[in-house]
Formats: sequence, C-alpha cells, structure tokens
Amino acid sequence: MPGHLRSFLREGLTVYVCVCRAVTDGQIRQCAQDGVASVKELQRRLGVASQCGRCARCARDILREAPAPGTALAMAPVGA
Ligand code: FES
Repeated sequence: MPGHLRSFLREGLTVYVCVCRAVTDGQIRQCAQDGVASVKELQRRLGVASQCGRCARCARDILREAPAPGTALAMAPVGA
C-alpha cells in the first residue's frame, strides 16, 4: 500500500481505494466484517479491481488488516 494512503488511514481519514468504482476503505472494512476475505469477493460485491486494477493490492492490504468478522469497527471522528 502506498505510504501516503497508509498515513491517511492511520489518521482515520476516509480514502477512495478504488477510484474507478468510487469504493472507500470503509466499504472494504465493512465487507471484511461481513466475512469477505478476498479481492475476488470484493470485486463481486463492490466492483473493486474490475476496471484498471490498480487498487487490487491496496484493497487486499486493507482486507488483511481489517478486524476479524464480528469485531466492532472503530468510528472515525467526523470532521477531524
Ligand atoms: S482503481 Fe479500482 S479498478 Fe481502477
């Protein structure tokens, strides 16, 4: 995952991971909570990596780092 994206995520900011399909890191984390465990599954659900494919590695990293299914997601502060 590119360093600047990692910095934004560490700060709790929402980022577009897949620009082609306008998919955010939060949507990917929500899918992880719902049990999605692969980029292929993300592709089916959200369209991630279905056009240019540049987002595939970052989406995979976010999936791997997401809390396990059933774990409460931390909410990012609004307007922070
Ligand atoms: S950025 Fe995700 S398919 Fe292009």
